Amino acid sequence: MEKLKIIGGNKLSGSISCSGAKNAALPMLAATILSDKAITFKNLPYLQDITTMFEILGSMGADISLNENMDFTISTSNLHDFEARYELVKTMRASILVLGSLVARHGFARIALPGGCAIGTRPVDFHLDALEKLGAKIELKNGYIEASSKKLRGCEITFPGVSVTGTENIMMAAVLASGKTYIKNAAKEPEIIDLANCLRLMGARIDGDGTSNIVIEGVNKLAGCNYDVLPDRIETATFLVAAAITRGKLTLTHTRPDTIKVIIDKLKKAGANISIKNDIINIAVKSKLDAVNITTNPYPDFPTDMQAQFIALNSISKGKSKVVESVFENRFMHVQELVRMGANIDINGNTAIINGVKDLTGAPVMATDLRASASLILAGLVAKGETIVDRIYHIDRGYECIEEKLTKIGANIKRLPQ
Ligand code: UD1
Repeated sequence: MEKLKIIGGNKLSGSISCSGAKNAALPMLAATILSDKAITFKNLPYLQDITTMFEILGSMGADISLNENMDFTISTSNLHDFEARYELVKTMRASILVLGSLVARHGFARIALPGGCAIGTRPVDFHLDALEKLGAKIELKNGYIEASSKKLRGCEITFPGVSVTGTENIMMAAVLASGKTYIKNAAKEPEIIDLANCLRLMGARIDGDGTSNIVIEGVNKLAGCNYDVLPDRIETATFLVAAAITRGKLTLTHTRPDTIKVIIDKLKKAGANISIKNDIINIAVKSKLDAVNITTNPYPDFPTDMQAQFIALNSISKGKSKVVESVFENRFMHVQELVRMGANIDINGNTAIINGVKDLTGAPVMATDLRASASLILAGLVAKGETIVDRIYHIDRGYECIEEKLTKIGANIKRLPQ
């Protein structure tokens, strides 16, 4: 397995262009199933999760091509298979996103049940119950979800909890259903709005995205479109923390500062100097930051996908801090690795209490999930000596060219072959 070797201590400085958002791109790729016309994406990030979604679409018969501007065009006009196989689903839970569009357009889907995962049980019951309400027949057979329906019918769906991919799946199912669908307790993430924007360009009738109440009026057919994917707010925020933790100075271009207000506020509160002009964010950090308390919750609150990175930052900030993880159970797997690097962190249920230490020291550590990997890399960037991060396939799922981007701004980081 590939590893990353990091020699800590370099202050980062320079400019980074942020990539397209993985979590916006994945549902949009699933949305290509909804139309028999081609859809072209600009700013699709080059990530393992995107490749996995391409493999799922390709195995069903989708045609995927790339032009000289690196724009991807996807045509699902010849889809002949409506199945997402276990070998692919087990590597990416977001594979479940093809469920809604397959049933809506082809009346059938067979998707491997995503199993447990490192950050909690993460069930898909909200997706299945909502699709059933729209009129689909759902059966669980041999580890697969089989969903079928002649024509989905609009209805009122109230999600029992806020689910990002659950909301997206049902939006995609409802755009081709007959009549109106009212989604209540919908997720409000910027990626939901981006998906709605893409679907609207295809001809869908959607209102209320970005609020808890989404209303969708089904149409008979959707067209193709060209779509420019939203910049990745989690990648952007991770680079802001990289500047903060190394006390560096970075300019981040191609960002959407409005999608990370809560992160920018926390970093400013901690003492970072941040200025914003249009899609550019400048951050400069001269001295050790103050530790900040965090509670994760659905958007617009603090994102669970930035919790691990902020625990790394708090580990070497001034003072004591409390981080509460309210979205996923068991999402503190990075903590034991950070402790091995000298961090002082106690876990009690879903709460981490962090006492800032003077220094972290390099160590061999193991990445357990995507954002945990990011936190270990951040810790490695500031730790004294050498850190080896093992199992970095997790990082390739969600951060485009991470070591190239970090090297460009002055980090000493290398990928070691298997
Ligand atoms: C999405 C993001 C992920 C992010 C997460 C929370 C994508 C591809 N992934 O994941 O990066 O960390 O949102 O912001 O966009 N739940 C159920 N039953 C369900 C669905 C969810 O109980 O059917 C629970 C989950 O266990 C979790 C909570 O709801 O506790 C939120 O999960 P959800 O928003 O669905 O996460 P994902 O959409 O999988």
